[in-house]
Amino acid sequence: MRIPGGIRVKLALALLGIVGGALLVAYAIVVPSLERRLVAAKLGQLEGDSATLAVDYAALQAQNNPQLGDFVDQGSLVANSRVVLFGIAPGTGELVKLADSSTTGSPEIQLDPVALQAARSVSTVRARVRHDGREYAEVAVPLLAEGNVLLLSSSLSDQLATVALVKRRLAFATVAALVISVVLGFAVAAVHARRLGRLQRAADRIAEGAFDEPVVDDGNDEVGQLAASFDRMRIQLAQLDSARKEFVANASHELRTPLFSLAGFLELLADEDLDEATRREFIATTRGQVERLTRLATDLLDLSRMDAGRIRIEHDEVGLAEVARVVAEDFTALADASGHTLLVDADEDAWAFADEERVQQIARALVGNALTHTPAGTTVRLGVERRAGRVALVVADDGPGIPVEHLDRVFQRFYRVEGGHASGSGLGLAIAHELAGRMGGCVTVSSRPGATAFTLDLPAVSQPEPQGATPLAA
Ligand SMILES: Nc1ncnc2c1ncn2[C@@H]1O[C@H](COP(=O)(O)OP(=O)(O)OP(=O)(O)O)[C@@H](O)[C@H]1O
Ligand SMILES: [Mg+2]
Repeated sequence: MRIPGGIRVKLALALLGIVGGALLVAYAIVVPSLERRLVAAKLGQLEGDSATLAVDYAALQAQNNPQLGDFVDQGSLVANSRVVLFGIAPGTGELVKLADSSTTGSPEIQLDPVALQAARSVSTVRARVRHDGREYAEVAVPLLAEGNVLLLSSSLSDQLATVALVKRRLAFATVAALVISVVLGFAVAAVHARRLGRLQRAADRIAEGAFDEPVVDDGNDEVGQLAASFDRMRIQLAQLDSARKEFVANASHELRTPLFSLAGFLELLADEDLDEATRREFIATTRGQVERLTRLATDLLDLSRMDAGRIRIEHDEVGLAEVARVVAEDFTALADASGHTLLVDADEDAWAFADEERVQQIARALVGNALTHTPAGTTVRLGVERRAGRVALVVADDGPGIPVEHLDRVFQRFYRVEGGHASGSGLGLAIAHELAGRMGGCVTVSSRPGATAFTLDLPAVSQPEPQGATPLAA
């Protein structure tokens, strides 16, 4: 059920319910018990006095001419209550009043049930009774020697007035507590509602893509923690958003450059006066640009699949020496054409727990880099290493290397070393790094002039040399 007024009214109503309930329970426990105790105390006092009077009565009977009127009057003064002496009518067995300390105005208690019961049961009887609409505490004692009954009756008006006073006070306290709880509940809820309102506005701002304004709440409670979580979310979303924008800007730039170049060459090719040799050269360049575009599109697709978590990674046993050999074979022609020496240096095989196709993709990116970003005459070596629980494929070259200030950034997307030997799109190492991470490994680099090494580190698989896998010669 939706309560109008939100959290303020809900909290105020909840407090109202709790305080009201607590006071009702207190009322139910205190008032009846107080009343019981006060009445019991009065009856107890009357009982004590009645025992004393019974003894006095026995002494009175020893006298010649017992004055019953004086006896009840004195008894009334001592017990501070009305004292009535009953006899039993011979034959009928009914009560007959012999003496009564009562003055006029007191209720007639000719057939008092308490006295009657005491006479019949021949034992002391105590009870709370009602005469003429008013409450009385009564104690009746049978006077054994005579067969008479002595009744002490005292009004309970003082006790009941005390109980009524407590009831009134409790009612007043209840009303006051309820009013205070409503006001307090409303005020406290208003503070929280304001804080929640600020959070809601912040969430709306973030949803609209405005990440600049921090989400602030000074509270040290759950709402404060929620605000802190919101702020962390804001910062993360801001980073993701700027990474996305940067990625789109870089990708469009990378796509535009070969496209412009393609458009230019196509226009030149349309020139009918072009001689055959130039035409062939232009077609070769155009083909190169198309290849670059295709590679770029594949890289971008790979990255977007990785970002979306839609890339499938197998976990098989992969022989790294075999991968080194296959990749080296693929690049032999390119290495020859660019004047590089390409060697495979993997006497022992090392088995990784990884995805063979992805390991090859990473190796190709590393060997491709070593051949394209180093001058002719550079030697590139593919090696395999085994360490405790890990295996590695190392691509090393003796080219000019990567300046130290660029080393930790070459794995970033679209990052290229300015003034490098060749220009690519700067995605190869970023993809290699992320793919390695998804296989439980990593790609690291160490570089100084004349010695650059990229290492693909992977979890090892403990397995004996399989048949058919031959160690590769350098
Ligand atoms: N073996 C190397 N020697 C010198 N510089 C290297 C070497 N490998 C990589 N680099 C530098 O690191 C940069 C990033 O490499 P990365 O493979 O990510 O991009 P790229 O080769 O420029 O482009 P892409 O691989 O996307 O076609 C390169 O531009 C290059 O400057
Ligand atoms: Mg590259």
